[in-house]
Amino acid sequence: MTEKLEDIARAMVAPGKGILAADESSGTIKKRFDKINLASTEDSRRDYREMLFRSTEAMKNHVSGVILFDETIRQKAKDGTPLVDIMKAAGSIPGIKVDTGAKALAGPTSKIETVTEGLDGLRERLAEYYKLGARFAKWRAVITIADGCPTWNCIKANAHGLARYAALCQEAGIVPIVEPEVLMDGEHSKHDIDECYRVTEWTLRTVFRELYDARVRLEGMVLKPNMVIAGQKAPRQASAAEVAEKTVRCLKATVPASVPGIAFLSGGQSDEAATEHLSLMNAIGGVPWALTFSYGRALQAAALKAWGGKPENVAAAQRAFSHRARMNGLAALGKWEQKLEKAA
Ligand code: 13P
Repeated sequence: MTEKLEDIARAMVAPGKGILAADESSGTIKKRFDKINLASTEDSRRDYREMLFRSTEAMKNHVSGVILFDETIRQKAKDGTPLVDIMKAAGSIPGIKVDTGAKALAGPTSKIETVTEGLDGLRERLAEYYKLGARFAKWRAVITIADGCPTWNCIKANAHGLARYAALCQEAGIVPIVEPEVLMDGEHSKHDIDECYRVTEWTLRTVFRELYDARVRLEGMVLKPNMVIAGQKAPRQASAAEVAEKTVRCLKATVPASVPGIAFLSGGQSDEAATEHLSLMNAIGGVPWALTFSYGRALQAAALKAWGGKPENVAAAQRAFSHRARMNGLAALGKWEQKLEKAA
């Protein structure tokens, strides 16, 4: 193994940089393309992602790594260059989503709760992804707040899966992104910020217990959690300052200092809210880990809209993407300001 897991993990959360989550599965990317009336084909997916990865300014300065879907890590740009080589040339590390999705968890809550699958054959798949250039991976577990949920059964099963995945990654020389997401959407009226805090704390404590049991080296992983935030349907929405304060408090109570970095998911927050929350957390400071982004929607939404599937819009879309990447790069340093959005 030439690169040390610790070095890769630290590079993923380098100051002022974060991760682009571009690993939408075929179903999810179709939903995103539906919004711009574009058919999801192998070529349209390639064109879209090539546009992002060729945004050199953003990729060089603000994107430490990109999470890819299986199709993309094997795909070539229009001119025949492997997409992985384009991102590597910009100094960005290729990563790969390796879970095979969240499936209904058998039992009384099967209509609501899921367990993430993908452990079968994972050792062999990781060995192949390493050869294809991946140096980190992602596995997303989903925890839903609803009446009577989450159950301990759901949290335990998902935490166990994350730990087994993370141990296999490290064995393969690949840094695991450990992503337990407490969803912010849902119908539950009692899903306020404090309920999110309670469930996030419970989830993270369980995840780190399982990681310990599986002998995962915390120095060689990156945590990708949700922020502590009110559910989208909650009558009281918390202020940005409250989200930042409670998220930092919850992470301090649960995440060991040996974890090099925490890269948040955006989870359905608006582009600007996701940026503001991250910046405020970094402004609070005094934490042992780097705090940065691993955003999908909050990095891509503006670019996707500007692109609209049309070649003549590539430059405008790249400008939109570079702007969001720069704003989030500043947020990772605690230096984002609202007026910078207006200036653009
Ligand atoms: P969002 O930032 O859109 O939540 O996506 C991040 C991600 O990778 C979810 O697994």
